[in-house]
Amino acid sequence: MYKYKISILGTGFIGLCSAACFAQKDIGVLASTHNEKKAEMINDGVAPFYEEGLEGIMKEVNQKNPDLLQCTLNQEKAVLETDISMITQGTPMRDDKSIKLDYIESTAKEIGQALKKKDSYHLVVVRSTVVPGTTRDLVGRIITEISGKEPGKDFGLCMQPEFLAEGRSIEDTLHPDRIVIGEFDKKSGDILEEFYQYFYGDHLENCPILRMNLESAELVKYGNNCLLATKISYANEFANFAELVPNVDVVQVMKGVGLDYRLNHRFLGAGVGFGGSCFPKDVNAIKAWAETKGYKPRLLDAVLGINDDQAIHVVDLAEELVNDLKGKRITLLGLAFKPGTDDMRQAPSIRIVNELRKRDVGEIIGYDPEAKETAREVFGNQINYADSVEEALKGSDCAILVTDWEDFKTITPETFKENLNNPNLVDGRRIFPFDEFSAKLNFKAIGRIKL
Ligand SMILES: NC(=O)c1ccc[n+]([C@@H]2O[C@H](COP(=O)([O-])OP(=O)(O)OC[C@H]3O[C@@H](n4cnc5c(N)ncnc54)[C@H](O)[C@@H]3O)[C@@H](O)[C@H]2O)c1
Repeated sequence: MYKYKISILGTGFIGLCSAACFAQKDIGVLASTHNEKKAEMINDGVAPFYEEGLEGIMKEVNQKNPDLLQCTLNQEKAVLETDISMITQGTPMRDDKSIKLDYIESTAKEIGQALKKKDSYHLVVVRSTVVPGTTRDLVGRIITEISGKEPGKDFGLCMQPEFLAEGRSIEDTLHPDRIVIGEFDKKSGDILEEFYQYFYGDHLENCPILRMNLESAELVKYGNNCLLATKISYANEFANFAELVPNVDVVQVMKGVGLDYRLNHRFLGAGVGFGGSCFPKDVNAIKAWAETKGYKPRLLDAVLGINDDQAIHVVDLAEELVNDLKGKRITLLGLAFKPGTDDMRQAPSIRIVNELRKRDVGEIIGYDPEAKETAREVFGNQINYADSVEEALKGSDCAILVTDWEDFKTITPETFKENLNNPNLVDGRRIFPFDEFSAKLNFKAIGRIKL
C-alpha cells in the first residue's frame, strides 16, 4: 500500500518527469496516454523521449517495483484507482495564436465520467499552463456537470503551475525554487501542500509554498514566462542600440546591467530571439486572452514584434556582407531553438529560413548536431542538411550562427576561411571572440559594430 496514489493525465515532458520523480519516492503513479506504443515503453521503464536523467529514474523505478509507475490507455481507470489526478496535457497555440484547450477539456470530461462512479473525495490538480479562468470555469464546471458532484465537498480543485525548463526537467522537479498552489478552497490546497511536504521532505526548507486562488496561480505562470521573454526582447532592443554606435558591445552593456542587485544576468543575452514550445505560445496566449476582455497588451505586442524582427535583422547583416543575397548559398549553424534539444517548435531558424527564401537565396544548408530529423519535419526540402560543420560551410557565401551549441564555440576562424567560398560570418548568438574574428573574417555580430 502506498501513502499516495496519483494519476498523471498526459505524459509529455511535464507529466512523465513528475511521474518518474514521484514514483522514485515510493508514490504510486498511474499515468495515462492515448498512445499505445508510449504506454508500452513507460510500462517497460523506457522513456519515450529524451530528457536528461529521465530514463535512468524510470529504469531504477521499474527494477525496484514495476507497479510504482504504470501507464494505462484508460484515463477513467487512472482516475478511479487513485486519490489525486494531475492534468498535464499539452495546451498548444491555435492558428489564431490563442490557446487550444481541447486536450484539457476532453480530460475534464473523462474525470467527470470517472467521478460519477466514485464515492470517495478526489483532488484534481491542473498543472498545464492555462489562461485565467480555465481551472474553475472549464475544468471545474465540466467535472461538476458530468459527475453531478459538488466541488469543495465531493472533489477538490487546484491549479499548480509548472516552472521547469526542458533540458533540466528532472533537476527542476526535484529542486523547485517555489511551489505555487492555486486553490478552489482551503481543503484542496491543504491536501496538495501535504502531498508536497511528503514528497520533498527536508528539501522544502528553502522552497516557499505560495497559496492563492485559482486564477492568480494561472496568471503567475504567464507572469513568469512573459517577463523572461521581455528580458530577451529588451536585450535585443539594446543590441540594436549598441549597433548605432561603433564599438559599443551589448554583451558588456548587459553584463553591467545584470550585476544590479535588483536584477539578474539571466535571459539578458542578445541574439536571434526566443523560440521553443513555451515562450511564443504563452506570450501569445495571454495576449489573445486579454484581447478577448477588451484590453490591448502593448508591452507584449512589442516583445513579440522585437522577437520577430531579430530574424530579419540577422538576415540583413548577412546581406550587408554579401551585398545581394539573391542566388547565394547560405549556411545556418544550428536549427534547434536552443542547445541541448532537438526541439524545433517556433525555432528562430524557421523565421530566418522564411526571410532568406523571401530574398531569393539560391540554397540554404543547415547543420545541427541533434535536430536534423526534427528540422526535416519542419523544412522538408526547403533547405539541405549537412552532417558536419565543414560540410555545411563548404562552398557557401555566408554562414549564420543560429544556435549556441557548445561544439560551435570551438570553431576557429581558419575553419570558416578554409571551407567558405567567401569568409562571411554572422554571429547571431555572440559566441565568437569579436576582435579575433573581425580581424580574420568578414564578420558581423548581433549587438556590436566595428569602427
Ligand atoms: N515543456 C515545458 O518545458 C513546460 C514547462 C512548463 C509548463 N509547461 C506546460 O505544461 C503543459 C504540458 O507541457 P508538455 O511539454 O509536457 O506537453 P506536450 O506537448 O509534451 O504534451 C503533453 C501531453 O498532451 C497530450 N497531447 C499533446 N498533443 C496532443 C494531441 N495532438 N492529441 C492528443 N493529446 C495530445 C498528450 O497526452 C501529451 O503527452 C503545457 O501546458 C505546457 O505549456 C511546459
